[in-house]
Amino acid sequence: MSYDSILKNLGQVIYIAGTQWGDEGKGKLVDILAEECDIIARATGGANAGHTICTNVGGKKKKIIFHLIPSGALHADKICIIGNGMVVHVPTLLEEMEMLREDGIALENRLLLSDRAHLLFDYHQEIDAIQEQGRGGNKVGTTKRGIGPAYADKISRRGIRLADLKNFNLFAEKLRANMEWVAKMYHCNLDIEQEIVRYKDIAEILSPYIVNTTEFIDLAYRQGKRILIEGAQGAHLDIDLGTYPYVTSSNTSSGGACIGLGLAPNRLETVIGIAKAYTTRVGSGPFPTELPPIEGDLLREAGKEYGATTGRPRRCGWFDVTVVRNAIVTSGISTLNLTKLDVFSGFETIKIGTRYLLENKPISFIPATVEELRKVDVEYLEMPGWKQDISTKEKFKDLPKLCQNYVLKLEELLGTPIQFIGVGADREQMIVR
Ligand code: GDP
Ligand code: IMO
Ligand code: MG
Repeated sequence: MSYDSILKNLGQVIYIAGTQWGDEGKGKLVDILAEECDIIARATGGANAGHTICTNVGGKKKKIIFHLIPSGALHADKICIIGNGMVVHVPTLLEEMEMLREDGIALENRLLLSDRAHLLFDYHQEIDAIQEQGRGGNKVGTTKRGIGPAYADKISRRGIRLADLKNFNLFAEKLRANMEWVAKMYHCNLDIEQEIVRYKDIAEILSPYIVNTTEFIDLAYRQGKRILIEGAQGAHLDIDLGTYPYVTSSNTSSGGACIGLGLAPNRLETVIGIAKAYTTRVGSGPFPTELPPIEGDLLREAGKEYGATTGRPRRCGWFDVTVVRNAIVTSGISTLNLTKLDVFSGFETIKIGTRYLLENKPISFIPATVEELRKVDVEYLEMPGWKQDISTKEKFKDLPKLCQNYVLKLEELLGTPIQFIGVGADREQMIVR
């Protein structure tokens, strides 16, 4: 299979976007396409992401979960970028680098960290936990990775950035001021001096990796290099466009990807949307096509739906056309990767949530408030399932007719081609049309 010819049609800069509530299988397609790209970049979010790659390392089957490092890192000669839009917990980054080193994958000279990316400290994680606790029954269900508090500092203009590590005395002053403020606000004891000492070592280790990644990307772009941007989270976790307040704290749509790398929007050529053949969600918030416990449990077990970052069971439900269509609109998605189609093998019937009704009137956009979204009625289309295992199929025409019908129906309802179909977790288990 030559992904090179496929990428030639998709263009020089491609964004892989989650179309639902995250965990659609973005990491797998990034890993596959990375082979034919020069640069793989993350632009938004932080270690709340958990991107799983099932592959062979040194001849052995291995599952690798990336939280901060782009999922293209397994390809030894590729440049990996952590963009300016990200919030970086350095201890997690170093752990991930160490994990890869143990598998013989070195990142020296090919991992670039944006000097404008924000640092996420342990105290952000503590604040995340305190804030969740304080929400009582209205918890967001965050990953407790400190994402909200780190982005809050950024927006409040008291964030500390990777570039600050290069002037350590000034960095120490900023960190001390921030930690004193946090200790006062949250009535907690923080060992400020110990944290400063810890970051002295970190500054030395990281210094060679910190660069102006926007400048690097601009040069690479002008040299004709192929750039793959790896989305994190999903369209409906977007801080502006998602099911607020049950969202993450970054812009997960393609606009956010551009800002998060300092990439002009007109340089982004193609957005590939990733959509699971059904829908999942971790954490709280409305989920119109969610299945009730027993049916939802069946889907969860069939799809092994447990969070890659927190291990939490994912809520499961039917495919929701309104959800994915909204993502297509807001991110400019022109082609789709339907993932985990194999999970439905053996299901008697499969349902598709085709349309929302709010107070008996059809709506095609998702309402602004969760209160309204909780009130929508979903219209379903029921389709017969297929019995055969499809995990070894390599061509669309070899899929059972009923399985093909499901894909064709989704394409029709979404008005967007489904070019990639995942039939298993491994790299090889991808049908391309
Ligand atoms: P991401 O966050 O979007 O990268 O997705 P996650 O890694 O959190 O979750 C997707 C899960 O589905 C992972 O365990 C993948 O290994 C797995 N996966 C991806 N594509 C497929 C597929 O087509 N079939 C099956 N059975 N599993 C898949
Ligand atoms: P990937 O990149 C699924 C969810 C959390 C919670 C909400 C806010 O693997 O698809 P946060 O910690 O970001 O403040 O949590 O967002 N969430 C994700 N759900 N996949 C993710 O990432 C997620 N990142 C955050 O569960 O509901
Ligand atoms: Mg994930």
